[in-house]
Amino acid sequence: MRAVVVYESMYGNTHQVADAIGAGLRTAFDVSVVPVSEVSPAVLADADLVVVGGPTHAHGMSRAGTRKSAVQAADKPVSGVKLEPDALGPGLREWFGSLGRYSVKAAAFDTRMHGPAALTGRASKGVTRLLRAHGFDVVAEPESFLVTRQERLEPEETTRARDWGTKLAAGIAVS
Ligand SMILES: Cc1cc2nc3c(=O)[nH]c(=O)nc-3n(C[C@H](O)[C@H](O)[C@H](O)COP(=O)(O)O)c2cc1C
Repeated sequence: MRAVVVYESMYGNTHQVADAIGAGLRTAFDVSVVPVSEVSPAVLADADLVVVGGPTHAHGMSRAGTRKSAVQAADKPVSGVKLEPDALGPGLREWFGSLGRYSVKAAAFDTRMHGPAALTGRASKGVTRLLRAHGFDVVAEPESFLVTRQERLEPEETTRARDWGTKLAAGIAVS
């Protein structure tokens, strides 16, 4: 069975979470972890599971304007963050805009700040809605992984992401 993890990431945290989820999924799947700028129809063609995640910007999925703000914030000398190579590329929202229909199992995740989701927002809610709109069979509750105010993953979040991937794989293997 094949799983594809599609991620958007500006500062690398969602990338790290995607890699960790991929490691968890490898317990039951052949896994590709692919940045959204590089997902071709061929990558999704024979997938049995598609997991999609991105950073929460302005309470939801990123837009061109929020990505521009993220680049400007990173460019400040005190920022301490490094942009991903494809940070200026399209985001998940644009990718969904040109995506066809897939009757494939799927799940969504995001990264966001610590706090109640009602206050921070969560990109995975929008990702889940768009997955369903494109025909995907969403098989898990969306999950958030938390970053600090300094834009670093909180301790244990990669472990939690790997465990989430393992659990997701196990759930699908028995269904
Ligand atoms: C322009 C911008 C807007 C943001 N808005 C939110 C927000 O509304 N809620 C939140 O929890 N985090 C917000 N964040 C923090 C991001 O969620 C955080 O940068 C992201 O999870 C890091 O993922 P990445 O390293 O993969 O880019 C925002 C960050 C930026 C740069």
